[in-house]
Amino acid sequence: MPKGYKILYPSDHADSFNEKDAFALDVLVGLSSTPKSISSKYFYDKRGSELFRQICLLPEYYLTERELEIIERHRQGIAAYASESPFNLVELGAGFSQKSILLLDHFAKAGLAFQYVPIDISESAMAELVKSLEKLIPRLEVNGLVTDYFNGLKWLNHRYRRKNLVLFLGSSIGNFTHKRACFFLRNLWNCLNHDDAVLIGFDMKKDIDLLLRAYNDSQGVTREFNLNLLHRINRELGGKFDAGKFRYFGTYNVFSGAMESYLVSQERQMVFIEAIGRSFLFEPWEPLHTEYSYKYLASDIEQLAEETGFEVHQHIYDSKSYFVDSIWRVQKPGNTELLARELRMTAKVG
Ligand code: AVJ
Repeated sequence: MPKGYKILYPSDHADSFNEKDAFALDVLVGLSSTPKSISSKYFYDKRGSELFRQICLLPEYYLTERELEIIERHRQGIAAYASESPFNLVELGAGFSQKSILLLDHFAKAGLAFQYVPIDISESAMAELVKSLEKLIPRLEVNGLVTDYFNGLKWLNHRYRRKNLVLFLGSSIGNFTHKRACFFLRNLWNCLNHDDAVLIGFDMKKDIDLLLRAYNDSQGVTREFNLNLLHRINRELGGKFDAGKFRYFGTYNVFSGAMESYLVSQERQMVFIEAIGRSFLFEPWEPLHTEYSYKYLASDIEQLAEETGFEVHQHIYDSKSYFVDSIWRVQKPGNTELLARELRMTAKVG
């Protein structure tokens, strides 16, 4: 690998708790709960990542195209948030997309001094990302971190105390419930410095038919994408799922604002999983929850930013107003600002 393109493994990567054990434990807990559920983060093995890539090409799945348009039209403006050089362009998830390439290419051509730091827990996804970047954009400084997001961000902040611009694209935040989104953002805030910028992609609340179509595509790719979770359990944990006995169901909950995905058992069945050493009973029409994809109002986004210590700088919409890339800045008033605020308060009270 040439000099500029590196993969690093900050700290406790060689965890004693391996990936397979963690998966088995999560499946055990999820299938023992009522109602049953398994986290959507387990969608993304090799096959699942390929299916997701196919989803992004579907005419019904508007999200990818809409966010791509935002970045295409506004890359100049986005570059302005990385004014101080050299800076870190951090991306959470090696979501190696056309979107990131577009931005990287623009930043590189504009002669900005920065390093690109994708952070992802998956070693194979990172290897693929770094390899293709090498081919696509020459003379880039890339340091891919194979670790979890927050460990990566802390490591980065110790090594290079620079201004950060953090990308969290594609409505990945939509997978979190409100409580988990707050926890995630607070954690992100904690790893960053005052005035650092973050760009987060949100899918907006919109015509319900458009939402339903996006998650019930005519080619059945989204269905396969969900069923792959069962296939993955079969492959990796010696599961005995018969995917044909499950029906995919994607529905929109207007009240919570989430697209919700389920696999519904169409008959009574016992499913054995070798790695766990036991069977799980599915009653007729019992659901297994697989994913939330939360949709937002502009006011939801503003509230979320405020709750977690950020200041909203800009909502960048696509031309159909389906999607927003929202740019926030970390608010961490220093001691002098806090002291001044304190003095004003005591002056008022006194
Ligand atoms: C990658 C999490 C943004 O929730 O829309 C696509 C994944 N699920 N089709 C989403 C997904 C069903 C996607 N995210």
